[in-house]
Amino acid sequence: MEGKEAVLDRLKKAEGRWVSGERLSGEMSLTRSAVWKHICKLRDEGYEIKSSPRKGYLLHRLPDRLFPREVRSGLGTMIFGQGEIIHLTETDSTNSRAKELAGRGTPEGTIVLAERQTLGRGRRGRSWFSPAGAGLYLSLVLRPEVSPAEAPKLTLMTAVAVCDVLVPYLPSAPRVKWPNDILVSGRKIAGILTEISTEPDAIDYVVVGLGINVNVPARQFPKEIRERATSILVETGKTHSRTAILRSFLEHFEGTYALFREGRFPLILDRWKAYAGATGRYVRVEQVGRVLSGEIQDVDEDGFLLLRDEKGHLHRIVSGDVTYL
Ligand code: BTN
Repeated sequence: MEGKEAVLDRLKKAEGRWVSGERLSGEMSLTRSAVWKHICKLRDEGYEIKSSPRKGYLLHRLPDRLFPREVRSGLGTMIFGQGEIIHLTETDSTNSRAKELAGRGTPEGTIVLAERQTLGRGRRGRSWFSPAGAGLYLSLVLRPEVSPAEAPKLTLMTAVAVCDVLVPYLPSAPRVKWPNDILVSGRKIAGILTEISTEPDAIDYVVVGLGINVNVPARQFPKEIRERATSILVETGKTHSRTAILRSFLEHFEGTYALFREGRFPLILDRWKAYAGATGRYVRVEQVGRVLSGEIQDVDEDGFLLLRDEKGHLHRIVSGDVTYL
C-alpha cells in the first residue's frame, strides 16, 4: 500500500482515537516528515484530520466525495466496484464517458462516477440536473451475453435495484413509473438512461446510467422542474452519505443482475410490478410520432407495456413517456 493510503488506513482503524506521529511513522516505516506530507495531501482531498503536537493525529471526518477507495471500503460485491472506478470531479455526461470506454473494450463492471455533470442526459433528449456534490451520477458498463431484444429488461432490473436502495432512506415507498422513472410522492427522485451498442444479434455493451437526487435542496432545482422533482434531502429533511447510497446500489444491482443472468427475470418483474402498482391506471403514452392513451393492462415478460386504448385495442409498447391521468 502506498504511504498515503497506509496512513489513512491506520487512522481509520483507530476509529476516532488519536494516533501519535511516532507510532504512525514507526508502523509505516516512514519518517515523521513523510507522515506529515501524507496528512497534508489527505487534508487537501477533504479528509478532516486533527493534529496535536502532544497527541498526534485523529481522523475526524471523511470527505463528501465519491473517492473510489471510500466506495470500495466495506463494499459487499464481487464485480461492481471491485474493478475500475473512474471518479471525475466534472464531466459532461458519465454515460458518454462510459460509452467511450466500453467502445475501447473496458470490461463489464467498469464504473464512471462524477461529482457534477455539465450535460447530464435524460431519456428522450432531456437533460438531467446534476449539481456538484449533491447527487449520484454514475454509469455502469455491462456486457450481458443475451440478444438485443433482452435489453429493456436491464432497465426494469435497474429500477428494482434503485427502489430497493431507496426504501430504507425514505418515509414513503418509492414507486416506479414504466419504464424507469423512480418517484416519491409523485415526484421524480431518480432516473435511469440505458444506452446499448449492438452487433447483428448480440449485445456489444450496455451502459446503464443512473442519477439519484440525494442532497439537493428544493430551492436548488431549476424552476421548470421544481414541482416535479424531489431528493432524499427534501423527503427526509436530512443529508445522507452519497458513498453509502452508492455502495448499497452496487450491492443491490449486482444481486438483481445475477438473477437476470440466471434467467430469473420473472422474479425481478414481480418485484418491479410491486413497486409500480400501475395495473388498471389510465395513462397517456407519448412515443415518437404518436400519442396513445388508455388503461395499463400489465407489463409483459419482455418488459413491454401492455396498454388497452379507448377502442379496446391492445398495444405492446417498447418505449415511450408515460403520464398518469
Ligand atoms: C431520465 O430519467 O430521463 C434518465 C436520467 C439519467 C441520468 C443519469 S445521471 C448519470 C448518467 N449520465 C447521464 O448523462 N445520464 C445518466
